Parts: sequence; C-alpha cells; structure tokens
Amino acid sequence: MIQIGLLGCGTVGSGVVKLLEKNADAIAQRSGDQIVVRRVLERDKDKCLALGIAPERITNDIEDIVNDPEIDIVVELIGGIEPASSFILQAMRQGKHVVTANKDLIAVNGKELFETADEHQVDFYFEASVGGGIPIVYPLKQSLAGNRIQQVIGILNGTTNYILTQMSRKGRDYHEVLAEAQALGYAEADPTSDVSGLDAARKIAILSSIAFNSRVTLDDVYVEGITDITPEDIRYAHELGFVIKLLAIAKEDQAGQIQVRVHPAFLPANHPLAAVNDVFNAVFVQGDAVGEVMHFGRGAGQMPTASAVVGDIIEIVRNLKHHTNARIGCTCYEQKPVVSINELEAEYYIRMRVTDRPGVLAGIAGVFGNNNVSIATVLQKSSDSDTAELIMITHRVREQWLRDSLTVLRGMSIVSEINSVIRLEGTQREAV
Ligand code: NDP
Ligand code: HSE
Repeated sequence: MIQIGLLGCGTVGSGVVKLLEKNADAIAQRSGDQIVVRRVLERDKDKCLALGIAPERITNDIEDIVNDPEIDIVVELIGGIEPASSFILQAMRQGKHVVTANKDLIAVNGKELFETADEHQVDFYFEASVGGGIPIVYPLKQSLAGNRIQQVIGILNGTTNYILTQMSRKGRDYHEVLAEAQALGYAEADPTSDVSGLDAARKIAILSSIAFNSRVTLDDVYVEGITDITPEDIRYAHELGFVIKLLAIAKEDQAGQIQVRVHPAFLPANHPLAAVNDVFNAVFVQGDAVGEVMHFGRGAGQMPTASAVVGDIIEIVRNLKHHTNARIGCTCYEQKPVVSINELEAEYYIRMRVTDRPGVLAGIAGVFGNNNVSIATVLQKSSDSDTAELIMITHRVREQWLRDSLTVLRGMSIVSEINSVIRLEGTQREAV
C-alpha cells in the first residue's frame, strides 16, 4: 500500500480524495498498488469530515505529515507561496515525493524546488499547474522530447476566455460576464490575476522553461490583460476576419533567444486556437519533427484538475514499484536570454480617433513611414461629428518603431485619441 499526505482539502484536494476512491480498483491495477490517503493537513476539518475522512487522520500540523515514515507522497493543494513552499521543501528533505498544482509557486520558485528534488532524489510532478486537466507538462517532457520546440501558444486562462467568448458572441458587457465567471467558480478568489494576465503568465513561464530547457520566471514574462478590450475592437476583429483571444506565447528564435509574453491578440478566425471558446483552455505546440500539435480541454475545475493530480500520483507509484524515482528531474540545463518586448516583430491593429478633414490620413501615414512602419490595411468609419475612427493593420514591424510612431501621433492635434493597439498572432503559420 502506498500512503499519501494531502495538504489542503479544498476544491482540488476534495476532488483528489473523491477520484482516488471512485476509481480505486482501476488506479490500483494501473499503478501496481493500492493508494491510500493517510493524513490530511487542513484548517477546516469539516471539509475533510464531509468526505468521510476519519477525524484522527486530519491535522493542522505539517510535522505530522513530513515526519511520518509511512507517507511516501505529499500532495500539496493549499496554494500560494508560503507556507506551501516551505512545506514542499520540508517534505522533499524527508525523502517524500511531491505532487502539486501550484503554478504561483513554480513560476517564481521553481529553481529551488527542482534543485531540492534533485538533491534528495525524489519525484516532483506538477501536471495540474498548467491547463488543469489537460496533459501538457508530461507530454512536453516526455512524448515531445525528441523535438526542438519552436513555439508554444496557449489559451491558459478559462476566466478570460469565457469573458472574451461571451463578449464576442453575445455582445455582452465585460463586468457582467466577469461577475458570472466568478459565480461559476472559474475565476481566482481575486480575479485580478485572471483579467490582468498574471495567471496565464505564471503558466507560460512554466511551459517555456520546459519547452526551451531554460528557466523562465514570472518576471521574464511581458504581461497585458484584457481589461482594455472593448466591444468595438471585437466587432472590428470580426469584420477583418479575426477573433480576439488572450494568448500566452513562448517562442525561441534561430539565435536561441526566447520571447515570452501574454497579451490579447488578433488571431485569424481559421486558426485552431480561434475555435477554443468559453472556459476551455488549449495549448498549441510546434516542434521541428512533430509539426503542429494542439492539446485541448478543461483548464480548471475540481475533477479535471484532480485528474491531472491523480495521474501524477500514479506515475510516482509506478516509479516506486520499479525503483525508478527521480528519473525526470529538472530539464532546465541551458541559460537562454529572454528578449525585451521592444525587440518583438509583429503586425499590429491600431484604432484611433482623428480629425475628419483632407490631409489627415496622409499626415498619419507620414509619421508611420518616417518610423519604418508599413500600413497593410486601413478602414475609416465616418462619424456624425468632425472626427472619424481610423482602423489600421500594419505589416510586420519592430515593436519599438511602432511605439515611437505612436508617441509622435499622440502629440499631434489631428489625433484625438489612440484607443487600442493589439498585436496580431498566427498569421504566418505556413512560414514558421
Ligand atoms: P482551495 O482554496 O479551494 O483549497 C485550499 C485548501 O487548503 C483550503 O481548504 C484551505 O483552507 C486549505 N489551506 C490553505 N492553507 C492552509 C494551511 N496553511 N494549513 C491548512 N490548510 C490550509 O484551493 P483550490 O483547491 O482551488 O486550489 C489548490 C491549488 O490548485 C492551488 O495551487 C491552485 O492554484 C491550483 N489549481 C486550482 C485549480 C482549480 O480549478 N481550482 C485549477 C488548477 C490549479 P481555507 O479555506 O481555510 O483557507
Ligand atoms: N482561474 C483560473 C482560470 C483557473 O480561469 O483559468 C485555475 O488556473
């Protein structure tokens, strides 16, 4: 029998207890042993009692778990940085294998966790930390290990995907849909990290570290959220053949430099990720041998996330049975530079309000031309006042040059307001 110490019996922790019980026979067959929750660390005992966990198995003291020689695996599902980090490190130092779903922690403190796991020759698995129930961490480390990964593009936050889908399909108001996402339990307790892009940034930091074998932390990720996306932008995106998605993008160029960013993007309506709607997540990977692969599913929720956690537990039990633990440790054996967003080359959508009189368009085109920004598409919508809405899409250009143009334009009297600047993504799939 393999015994587990479970830290946290909240949404995911309860799901893990239920799944281990529901599929106990199949899990025992597949892993090679019976898996039993020996002890649970939880502040609120009632959560555990409601699941049928005996009172003597519930504790408030981490020492009862990390110092228990009968426990082989510690499953951390309390979330946050501390005390989760200390608890995991303590467990590893006691020779326990660890499973976690804690993206916040791995995205900032991954190095120390992996080094400690390595030092103590224990397994450290974290499939549920990215994309909830979607298998992506293990596939990148194992099934795709023969590839050079060129890019990973994800829709990694269910809350924002739900908001954008509802705004797009039904023209609904941002705040109303956010409140609904919170009520449905998709959003984090504080939804700021969802809508600001931070949650997706943590997840892409984890995926890019694995994909490019070089440690990427949260601080390396350029982040913009969806709070400035308006119904007008969504309407123009449709008109121009795009959808707006919050994308988490990681790419490695020919020179071995990495770019990692999270921002809303215009995505061609025929791109595979454009069909990923509502609370679903997806990760689109391009490898030099496999080509394009897409992993799709539920990125959050009790049972989808428990599915990933239990998969990790089973893998550790298999390793225990065959004495093969610590086989796949830290895969960050290189140090690649992460380039600044200013060095990005992309196409851009720009929406601005300008004076509606002869020569204005020429003046604006002149500023772009002086800064090496080439215009691909222009749409002008007349208005009832003496201003017009101007929608432009640029050819591929360096971000710094676009920013320089916008600074000049903001200082011109013919430009009332630059409302939106959104990058395009996925327009050159055949070329990559
Ligand atoms: P919950 O808040 O539902 O559960 C956490 C539980 O741990 C709570 O019951 C909490 O008690 C308890 N807890 C927290 N700190 C301590 C402590 N120091 N001692 C004892 N008990 C403690 O969180 P989730 O289950 O939603 O999330 C768990 C992890 O999974 C997080 O890292 C999260 O990011 C990750 N995750 C969650 C997903 C989801 O869909 N929910 C999806 C993917 C990943 P109390 O309520 O009293 O604070
Ligand atoms: N709040 C997250 C989301 C779920 O909306 O995707 C867990 O990562």
